[in-house]
Amino acid sequence: MTQSKVRTVIFPVAGLGTRFMPATKGTPKELLPVIDTPLIQYAIDEAREAEVDRMIFVSHPSKAAIKHYVLDDTQLRMTLTHHGKPELAYQLQAAALDTRTCEIIFVNQPEPRGLGDAVACARPHLLDGPVAVILPDDLILGEPGCLREMVNAYDRDKAGHLIAVMEVPKALTGQYGILSVTSQEGHFVLSDGIVEKPAPDKAPSQMAVVGRYILDPIIFDALAHQAPGVGGEIQLTDAIAQSGRKAGIAGFRFSGRRFDCGSKQGMLAATLFMAHKDPAYTEVLAAFQTSGDY
Ligand code: G1P
Repeated sequence: MTQSKVRTVIFPVAGLGTRFMPATKGTPKELLPVIDTPLIQYAIDEAREAEVDRMIFVSHPSKAAIKHYVLDDTQLRMTLTHHGKPELAYQLQAAALDTRTCEIIFVNQPEPRGLGDAVACARPHLLDGPVAVILPDDLILGEPGCLREMVNAYDRDKAGHLIAVMEVPKALTGQYGILSVTSQEGHFVLSDGIVEKPAPDKAPSQMAVVGRYILDPIIFDALAHQAPGVGGEIQLTDAIAQSGRKAGIAGFRFSGRRFDCGSKQGMLAATLFMAHKDPAYTEVLAAFQTSGDY
């Protein structure tokens, strides 16, 4: 029988983070925080909620801090406990990945050749069945989490490639993968193609891809032969388009709220959103709103 459970998730985290320089000169963009929680933590928590068995981080040697962050640091926890902060030590332990409950693999993407190339780097480490991809700079807040929702909805016979989508203004199609839409059924957006970053006058719709994918494993055969596309990079979108003719493509309209934390505006919006939910920041937000000062 074909394995249809989503057991593997890939986090492509090798990017240079040029949009956040100079901050990303010293800190990987995936470790930039929304208040106190790094983007990678949200992504990991979403994958844990989806009950995957293996997480593969496709990283770069210059970004060793990611590995240090995601794994447990017993020494630090002991120090915190010793200094009267056992609750903080416990919080760190709960946030860190536990290699007893989920396999963790780090691989390097030798050169920045694009998202498709990064995903292809994970190929030797996949478990059977469809594979999830999470782009941590697309922060999606929701209950259930976006990947959990997609795993629940995934039906390989309906569409082997299931991709999170949202409608964007026509002027913005050039920033996203865009689906060619044939019909819509509830959360599903059935599709007969996908193009990477089309100009508004060339876009087949305004249904844009955000960074959550469940992909039929035939994607890896397509990626192995994928020529460079937009920006001279190996595009995941192009490989989805090619293999999607056989596997089928559908968009999934998730119910959570998405923040484009690859942009400074999105990062600020996410920070304000989280601050508004926490009474600890009520005073500073109110003061800033009324007088522009605090
Ligand atoms: C990538 C994908 C694009 C997708 C986007 C979502 O682009 O190539 O298809 O719409 O993520 O955030 P990037 O933003 O990395 O240029």
